[in-house]
Amino acid sequence: GCSIIIDTDPGQDDAVAILLALASPQLDLLGITTVAGNVPLALTSRNARIVCELAGRPDVKVFAGADAPLKRPLVTAEHVHGKTGLDGITLPAPTMPLQPGHAVDFIIETVMSRPAGTVTLCPLGPLTNIALALQREPQLAARLQQIVLMGGGCFEGGNITPAAEFNCYVDPEAAKLVFASGVPITMVPLDCTHQALTTPARIAAIRALGTPLAETVACWLEFAERFDEAKYGQQGGPLHDPCVIAWLLAPELFSGRDCNVEIETDSALTLGMSVIDWWGVSGRPRNAHVLGGVDADGFFALITAALARLGGR
Ligand code: BDR
Ligand code: CA
Repeated sequence: GCSIIIDTDPGQDDAVAILLALASPQLDLLGITTVAGNVPLALTSRNARIVCELAGRPDVKVFAGADAPLKRPLVTAEHVHGKTGLDGITLPAPTMPLQPGHAVDFIIETVMSRPAGTVTLCPLGPLTNIALALQREPQLAARLQQIVLMGGGCFEGGNITPAAEFNCYVDPEAAKLVFASGVPITMVPLDCTHQALTTPARIAAIRALGTPLAETVACWLEFAERFDEAKYGQQGGPLHDPCVIAWLLAPELFSGRDCNVEIETDSALTLGMSVIDWWGVSGRPRNAHVLGGVDADGFFALITAALARLGGR
């Protein structure tokens, strides 16, 4: 088993990642922390609770975190995720409460009170909360088992600017701090997620489960897909964030290598770019395991089976 905290800005793909974790008994989800990203914090905090309730898990602890990046105004992505962040189907407002207290305090208290090396952080949005926690508690880095994050890109270029991936672009200072923290990092960049495409056949397989939950997921994926198809000129949009959870559950579905990764924070042109030394030409220390490939059919089979386990909700 593996104890995890999911830090997230839902987002349809974040939502599927949360569902995958909730459906997987190998993972002990200690809590969900929310951050401003795809949409502002009030909406990501609302959406995280909607997802827990959809899964029949109103007991999950959800903590709100940072409402803006460390040093910059928030950039959002309603053009991808819709006004609510979870567009595609109309869902009831959540009734489960947000936990009192700040996400950063929850992360610190949870990691510091558990045995060293037993908690994995799974950031699926801008890295603001993670950076704040590492800054505030200098012992945190040494106590973490690892950080498995979705962000950045190597050969794929960017998706919010030509150079930068959204999560690294929104809070580049936070991303820089995380990659410099010394914590073992597994990085899921666009190179990996752009292989995990929501084709019509894969969405149909989810819908065919025939449950309200599966229908909801199918509607979410279709919503995000419309945007991505226009953008990338192919059928099927990338299902980014669930790759983080899938890596923990089935690492054999992925390939990757240990690389040096640095984040650009100064250049206006390439702000938030992840400079990944895939070929090992820099001689700089290898601070991240970077995933470059995924068995997409295996990945979607994992997700579909997980949604089936969550049952008839
Ligand atoms: C990342 O940006 C967000 O829009 C997605 O949820 C994902 O975390 C992809 O660049
Ligand atoms: Ca996300």
